[in-house]
Amino acid sequence: MFELYLEKPEQLNLREAAPVQTLKKNETRVRLIYGGICGSDLKVFRGTIPYAKYPCRPGHEILGTVIEAGEMSPYKPGTRVISFPNTYCGKCEFCLQGKTNICSGKQSFGVTINGLFASEIVIDSEFLVPVPSELANERVILTEPFAVNVHALKRANISKGTSVAVVGCGTEGLLSVALLDYMGADITVLDINSDKMEKARSFNKTIKSLHPEEVQDQVFDVVVEAAGVKDAIEQAFLLVKPGGALITLGIINDAVSFPSLHVTRSEITIYGSIIYTKKDFEEALGFLKDPEFNVSPVLSKIVPLKDYKKAFEDALTGNFTKIVLDFRDSQ
Ligand SMILES: NC(=O)c1ccc[n+]([C@@H]2O[C@H](COP(=O)([O-])OP(=O)(O)OC[C@H]3O[C@@H](n4cnc5c(N)ncnc54)[C@H](O)[C@@H]3O)[C@@H](O)[C@H]2O)c1
Ligand SMILES: [Zn+2]
Ligand SMILES: [Zn+2]
Repeated sequence: MFELYLEKPEQLNLREAAPVQTLKKNETRVRLIYGGICGSDLKVFRGTIPYAKYPCRPGHEILGTVIEAGEMSPYKPGTRVISFPNTYCGKCEFCLQGKTNICSGKQSFGVTINGLFASEIVIDSEFLVPVPSELANERVILTEPFAVNVHALKRANISKGTSVAVVGCGTEGLLSVALLDYMGADITVLDINSDKMEKARSFNKTIKSLHPEEVQDQVFDVVVEAAGVKDAIEQAFLLVKPGGALITLGIINDAVSFPSLHVTRSEITIYGSIIYTKKDFEEALGFLKDPEFNVSPVLSKIVPLKDYKKAFEDALTGNFTKIVLDFRDSQ
């Protein structure tokens, strides 16, 4: 059994590890197929998340096959499953309202507790979701980052023709564009990287693009902030039409300035949005099941696990969108 391992920031290695011997009643053993490298894995690698714990096994975006099920696990060997990126307690006031995404006791795989980038993992079955058999591995692996957008876009009022600006065309921004395009929204994308905007426009030739420095007085019904960069967040507020909404996805530690006058006078609604619930995950799989739903521009490349160093290096350049590790050659 092989696992990726971060002794401390910047020190990522692949090592042999002893597999867990016996499963607890509710646990499931999963053999990995794919692992998607996420922005949060890169932040843990760089050491920029203050609450991250080291040493640590990174990773949370995984697809695998069940190989053993504990007594109470609902999964049969052979079932393909994906995982939640964090745990939740099921008992706090938020979990009891179904908002497991803001659970007060949640732990994040690969950040505060050991992650899932290993050829074989043992995990509480509660945090697994089965995958429909007709879905290709290359689409399924995008479920987790896509569910972020399924959850987020429901927060504002978006329908056919709604003008929406997506700020930042990385993995999350592009997945937002995928869903907005499917919904028939009137989309404008912003990014400092013209290749990323080109990718966004590949979803539909009607999509407009705007370099952040080209913005004059353009405003939109809804703005999705998916850059996670101070300048972008500050600009995003100003792009919202009076009476409109800003959905914030970006996660940064820096303080950003809040244009109170604009927000108050123009009655801007701000929706913070963090990950998703199981329902969002299931809805995400529903969209992915439709062959008309295009997500192919989001996946940059799939690389064998042995090339993990290059995969992380490439991901850190910011020139790629989703890079996926193939764990199947490591077993
Ligand atoms: N809220 C959630 O549940 C959730 C889930 C996943 C990721 N995130 C966060 O969302 C953000 C985006 O994630 P990602 O994985 O797509 O990141 P990413 O790095 O792949 O994409 C960010 C994009 O923003 C662009 N950008 C940089 N500066 C910009 C600027 N000034 N104006 C416009 N665009 C700019 C970059 O060129 C890049 O294309 C991150 O902050 C991440 O932590 C949030
Ligand atoms: Zn992720
Ligand atoms: Zn809880």
